[in-house]
Amino acid sequence: MIDVLPRESASTWLDLVETTPSLVFDPDICRRQWDDLSNALPGVILYYAVKSNPYPGVLQTIANEGGHFDVASAAEIKMLEHEGIHASQMIHTHPVKTDAEIEKAVAAGVTTFVVDNVDELWKLIPYRHSIRVMLRLSFIAPDAPIDLSRKFGAPQQDAMSILDVANDSGIRVDGLCFHVGSQAATSNTHADALSVCLDLCEQIKDAGLPEILRIDIGGGFPAHYIGESPDIHAFCGPIRNVLKRVPENLEILAEPGRVISAPSMALVCRVVGRAKRRDGWWFYLDDGVYGAQSGRLFDGMQYRMSVFTSSDELSPCVFAGPTCDSIDELGRYPEIPILNMNDVIVFHEMGAYTLASATQFNGIAPPTVVTRALPELRRGYGYSE
Ligand SMILES: Cc1ncc(COP(=O)(O)O)c(C=O)c1O
Repeated sequence: MIDVLPRESASTWLDLVETTPSLVFDPDICRRQWDDLSNALPGVILYYAVKSNPYPGVLQTIANEGGHFDVASAAEIKMLEHEGIHASQMIHTHPVKTDAEIEKAVAAGVTTFVVDNVDELWKLIPYRHSIRVMLRLSFIAPDAPIDLSRKFGAPQQDAMSILDVANDSGIRVDGLCFHVGSQAATSNTHADALSVCLDLCEQIKDAGLPEILRIDIGGGFPAHYIGESPDIHAFCGPIRNVLKRVPENLEILAEPGRVISAPSMALVCRVVGRAKRRDGWWFYLDDGVYGAQSGRLFDGMQYRMSVFTSSDELSPCVFAGPTCDSIDELGRYPEIPILNMNDVIVFHEMGAYTLASATQFNGIAPPTVVTRALPELRRGYGYSE
């Protein structure tokens, strides 16, 4: 989990940044992740989930690959427009939206929306002649640590009645979608859910309801945090098996976030304070859970760490962030070299749900971002202990 390296070798990282804390963004890695997932899911149209990391360099890199975008708000639409990306490249997948949000998205030119209940359908009635809608269903992956089907997604048994209401209201629902949960360990639930949706398409057709023309299999594709490095092609195998059943007139979409953005950034920090306390040495870093490491709290994520130090005396230790809040802790370890002031710590796979949810708590600014090639041995899946 922690890689201890000689203090001098920190220059490989310090040469990339002007200050710490900094996130280093590598467009080549972002591109490689996009290409790898595209190859693993042939024929599937990928919509990058902007929420995972809206950094302009990430958006530009994906736009240059011809990618599409999944948005959750008017603010995300604006960020994309600022990068020259047109609303025709976007789908709005938030299942619960305010009227104002819908109005802004429609005004921007977004034409695809998602609902998972009839109250949300009513909100779309004024725009029914210019939009198309996907119905989100709930499928929970038992092996995904972040559940996204508790808060959203209609139960499968409610699908036909919601589609009936939509049909009676003149709203064109011609898509089904789901999100099985983030950082899934396998794609078994994606595959099962896709299969259920394909069966449902037949039932919908038989009931004389408008034909389903799109199925969106959501996100949940895993990044390499701690433990085995997932091979994305092998991961997607079960989905590819079900894709064989997809009729020609049906489009399949996906909304990957984490798998694209996580490996594209690494975080360079320093020890800015230290103290020996009852439970061992505490090392205070210049970034913490209110900064780029919010995923520790929100997602329960642990990140791979490299520490660069000349020290070899070991002690129990606690890593903590720079704010005054006691929740701002990054991990406790039974035996780590006793670090010195200014020793460098690098956290890997730090691009997803990090900068996107960083705060200004205590007036401490989130890390700055620089665009550089990440050092060879630390490039995403190529990392070796
Ligand atoms: C609607 C929707 N689509 C896509 C994503 C991206 O998921 P992931 O980062 O697991 O790929 C999320 C994540 O919260 C989401 O809520």
